[in-house]
Amino acid sequence: MERLPGFRDFYPEPLPHSDVWSADARHYLFETWRAAARHYGFREYDGPPLEPLEMYTMKSGAEIVGQLYNFTDKGDRAVSLRPELTPSLARMVAAHERNYKKPIKWFGLPQLFRYERQQKGRLREHFQFNADILGEADLGADAEMLALAIDALRAFGLTADDFVLRLSSRQAWHDFFHQRHPDSTREYEFYQIIDKLEREAPEESSHKLAALGFSYDEIRAFINAGEPTPELQSIVQNLAARGLAAFVKVDYGVIRGLAYYTGTVFEAFDKKGEFRAIAGGGRYDNLVKLISGGKVDLPALGFGMGDVVLLELLKARKLLPAFGANVDVYCLIEDEALRLESLRLIQHLRAAGLAVEYSFTPLKPDKQFKRALELRAKHTAKVDRSGAAPAVRVKDLRSREEKLVAWDDAVKTLAGEGG
Ligand code: HAM
Repeated sequence: MERLPGFRDFYPEPLPHSDVWSADARHYLFETWRAAARHYGFREYDGPPLEPLEMYTMKSGAEIVGQLYNFTDKGDRAVSLRPELTPSLARMVAAHERNYKKPIKWFGLPQLFRYERQQKGRLREHFQFNADILGEADLGADAEMLALAIDALRAFGLTADDFVLRLSSRQAWHDFFHQRHPDSTREYEFYQIIDKLEREAPEESSHKLAALGFSYDEIRAFINAGEPTPELQSIVQNLAARGLAAFVKVDYGVIRGLAYYTGTVFEAFDKKGEFRAIAGGGRYDNLVKLISGGKVDLPALGFGMGDVVLLELLKARKLLPAFGANVDVYCLIEDEALRLESLRLIQHLRAAGLAVEYSFTPLKPDKQFKRALELRAKHTAKVDRSGAAPAVRVKDLRSREEKLVAWDDAVKTLAGEGG
């Protein structure tokens, strides 16, 4: 039985095949993202992986709707696996916003599903670090979001030489469109052409733009001029005060494909331009109102950072650490008469927070020791009954130094506190 195209198997390292993904690396990503979010005071949330189809039609925009993993369930409901978390967040916040002080700062680590053509950096399932702020219209929140995205990437060892946040403004593009075009029903269509500008042949974009009354050259001129709006200037200044100016660049080549963005938008890219976007986000001040049928109106903004592109980038820059079993202690049971007492020791060490391994069945002492080395355990420990009271013989596998410690001192020694 084969797995479905665009889906992944996650194995513990060392990986058995180049075609599988590392469960250890995934865990590392999640923990690093969680730590970054915590530094910024964000709280974790999650929604259901399956939502009413209606949640995404109209609200997310044509591109995502075309990629929905949707079906009719046994209760005749039109449903879809979530392609993104933002509409669920808007629904959840709208339902209970009175219970939370504003601004609401939440993050999530959902698995998302998009039925798109499998290609480099794009699969049918991915995990995304989502961080959003709701109930804050001030541009200080926009800068805070960008700073979090930057710090989340820096936490993996990436620097300003590796990535850049391309900062743009839907408002600037909105003004551009309306100065030249009277029909706002075609505005989103226009945004989608701009969004694809870098991925499509110029003739094709040119042709589509002409149908809306724009010339390719005037679009390019607007992007090349890159005149930052006062809003973008204030955000850049805010980031510069934190020493993060090198990580952002005003760039109107970014507009974002999703329909709901209203203000600041941004995408993070590797500087060599080898990979697809690492992250993307922006302000979406009308989505909560739209999802709640007008009942709740809250400004909002946030971003999503995918695991697929980020892992590709970290691998290419050799920034992924070596992952192992993380065994603190391998308990040697060389005399089967001591198995029960060894189990008592194992339980004692595990209760103290140490990771302990041992052989379930009788095994020659040299085999047990070999296994301890294979697992890269920090120490071996074995029960010693040679004295009056049970003691523990501890060996440091790096220095190969061995010593006999009292039962009650074993934890201290093995946790590296006893010297
Ligand atoms: P998005 O640009 O669709 O935004 O996705 C964000 C990131 O998720 C992308 O930059 C990319 O790294 C990753 N990603 C997206 N689709 C795939 C895929 N098929 N395979 C692998 N990685 C993928 C959103 O989803 C917005 N909801 C983000 C947001 C949160 N905006 C405000 N708050």
